[in-house]
Order: sequence, then structure tokens, then C-alpha cells
Amino acid sequence: MYEAKKFDLPKLEGISDESVKQHLALYEGYVKNFNAIAAKLAEYAKEDTEKHALALGELIRRKSFEFDGMRLHELYFAQFEGTSTPLSVNGSLAKAFEKEYRGYFQEYFRAIGNMRGPGWAILYYDPIGKEFQAGFVGEQHQGHLVTLPVILALDVWEHAFLLDYGATGKGKYIEAFFKNLNWGLVEKRFAAF
Ligand SMILES: [Fe+2]
Repeated sequence: MYEAKKFDLPKLEGISDESVKQHLALYEGYVKNFNAIAAKLAEYAKEDTEKHALALGELIRRKSFEFDGMRLHELYFAQFEGTSTPLSVNGSLAKAFEKEYRGYFQEYFRAIGNMRGPGWAILYYDPIGKEFQAGFVGEQHQGHLVTLPVILALDVWEHAFLLDYGATGKGKYIEAFFKNLNWGLVEKRFAAF
């Protein structure tokens, strides 16, 4: 059983309170649905699985959709906690970005976020290869790079921007996302490696 987390969010610039409120309600829905699926699967695990094969298959597929939705939103909202803080110019994350992206990280990541289709732009760090891997995850369960921890997660589902910017406003929303980001938190994630 998982419990929905509470986030200590400041007033965001360019992302309305109503949008945040609705988005948090969606997040809570993922937690609730994941718990319901996990409980049903626990029942099936103790019964004749042959009898439940069809339902089991559907629920196992949905499990990662709900779980990833839960976890990615936790990573997403946590990035706004505290106050909006710029990337520290001489910090290890800025230096690593400079080495790998030569100052173009944000442009590159924005371009990934602006790709068509709902999903997430995600920056992972590979502690084995010792390099960043940026990716796009369709919806939230397809396209993850396994074993890689998430450094930065940008939600680009329409629900993240529709209310404030309309159907064609993804670019403006991505601007707002970066404006509100607490880079200190993102740096802390990277510091673990
Ligand atoms: Fe979302």
C-alpha cells in the first residue's frame, strides 16, 4: 500500500493554482489505482492463476502505468518544492552539463519535451557509463532506460498545460517549468553519484 505524498509547493509562476490542484488530484488517482491493482493481484497470486489469466494479464500491464505515473509525479512535484533556484554555475551538475552538452542542455531538453505525443521528457544519469541519458517516455510506462535513476522529470501530458495555455501551449508551459524549477533539488539528485 502506498500513500499519496504531500508537497510543500510555493506559488508557481505561469502554472496556476487550479492547474496544480487538478494535477495533484490526478497524481493521487495513480496512487489509488496502483493500490487497487496491487491488492487484486495479491488475491490472484493466492488462487488458481489459470482461472484468472485474462484479468491477470490486463492488470499486470496496467500496473506499470499506474506505478510509473505515481513515481514520476512524485519526482515532478518535488522539483518545485522550496523556492525556484537557478543552477549553480560552478556546481558539479553545471560542469557535467557543460562537458556533455556544451551549454545546450536546456535547449536539447526543451526539444525533447516539445516532441509530439503525451509523455515525459526525462534526464537520467547512468552511473555505470558515467554519462547522462535524456529520453522520452510515451505516456509513462513505455521507453524507460532500465536501471537508470531520474535526475529531472518534465511532465508533457496535456493535463499539465491545457488549463493555463491551451492545446498548443506546450512550449509556454515548458518555459514556466524551467522558471519554477528548484535546481538545488536536481543538483542533490545528481550529487548521489
Ligand atoms: Fe501529470
